[in-house]
Amino acid sequence: MTVVLGIETSCDETAAAVVDDRFHVVSSVIESSIDQHRAFGGVVPELAGRAHVATIGPVVARALLAAGLDLHRPAIDAVAVTSGPGLIGSLLVGLSAAKAYAMAWGVPFVGVNHLEGHLFAPLLEQADLEWPLLTLLVSGGHSMIVLQSGPGDHQVLGESIDDAAGEAYDKVARWLGLGYPGGPEIDRLAQAGRAGALKLPVSMTGADYDLSFSGLKTAVVRATEKHGDVALADVAASFQAAVCEQLLRKLRAALEHYDVAGVALAGGVAANSALRLGVGELAAEFAIACHLPTKEMCTDNAAMIAAAGLYRLAADGPSPMNLSASPNWQLVDVP
Ligand code: KG4
Ligand code: ZN
Repeated sequence: MTVVLGIETSCDETAAAVVDDRFHVVSSVIESSIDQHRAFGGVVPELAGRAHVATIGPVVARALLAAGLDLHRPAIDAVAVTSGPGLIGSLLVGLSAAKAYAMAWGVPFVGVNHLEGHLFAPLLEQADLEWPLLTLLVSGGHSMIVLQSGPGDHQVLGESIDDAAGEAYDKVARWLGLGYPGGPEIDRLAQAGRAGALKLPVSMTGADYDLSFSGLKTAVVRATEKHGDVALADVAASFQAAVCEQLLRKLRAALEHYDVAGVALAGGVAANSALRLGVGELAAEFAIACHLPTKEMCTDNAAMIAAAGLYRLAADGPSPMNLSASPNWQLVDVP
C-alpha cells in the first residue's frame, strides 16, 4: 500500500494529511490564519506567508502523530504538495517543507495543482463513485464547470471571465459592511430574505459554459445605492439567488449536453446552502448521483492534495527537486 503525506499552503490554510492509495484519509489537520486577515477584508499575502512558516512544522507533526506514525522515520512513501495556483510566498513555504521532508525520509516528492486537488475531493468521500462527473468548482479564486471522465482526466468546459463566485460574495459582503469572508454571512442572512426584493440582471445568457460575477456585484452596489431602505437580508437573498441562478443554469445546460453518471460540487462556495439545494434538485431531475462535499472537503485541505498526488505520482512519476511554485497554474496547463 502507498501512503502519501499531503501538504497545502496555497492561501490562508496550513494543512497536512496522510492518505492511502484506497483514498482513505488516515489523518487530516487544518490550521487557518483567517483571523489575522479579517480586519483587512481579505487575505494579506505577507501575513499568510509568515503564518505558514510558523505553523507548517507543527501541523505536519500533528498529521503524522494522528496517523500513528513515527515523527522521525514515518512510514510515508511520498510527499505531495500544492505547487500552484496560489500566493507565491505561501506556496513556497509548503514546497520547501515538502522537499525537505522528502529528502530527509528518502521518498519521492510530487507537485500538485490545487484545482486538480479540489477535483479529487469527492473520491475521498466515496472511493467507488461512477464516472463521468460534471463538477462545479467554485471558490474564492476560481469558478468553473469541469467534465471529469475519470480521476485526473478533466476538461474545463467554461470558467469565470472575471471574478470568482466566492470573490463576488466577499466583495458584496464588504460593500454591505459584513465581515470577511462574506460567503457564510450572506448565506446566513439570505435565509430570512426575499429573493425578489432587488431586481438584478441575469449574466451570461449565451450558449457557452463561461461565467461572470463582476457585473452582478456592480448591480448590487447600484441597486442598494438607489434603494437605500431595502433590508440587508433581502439584498443577501437577491444576490444569492442571482449567483445560484447563473451557476445552475449553466450546469443544467452542461447536463443536457453531456451524458454523465453524477454531478459534484467543490471549493469553498460548495458550502452554500442554496447552491447545494439547487444541485441536489438538478441531480434528482436528471436521475444521476449527487456528490455534495462535507464542510471539511469544501474548504482547502491537504487530503485532496495527497489524493491528487497519489494519482500524479502513478501517472507521471515524481517531480524534480528544483520544481518551483506556479502562482498562475491553470488546470489544463503543464507547469
Ligand atoms: O475554496 P476556499 O476555501 O478558498 C479558496 O481557494 O478560495 O473558498 C473560500 C471562498 C470565500 O470566498 C468564501 O466567501 C466562500 O468560499 N464561501 C461561501 C460560503 N462559505 C464559504 N460562499 C457562499 N456561501 C457559503 N456558505
Ligand atoms: Zn481552494
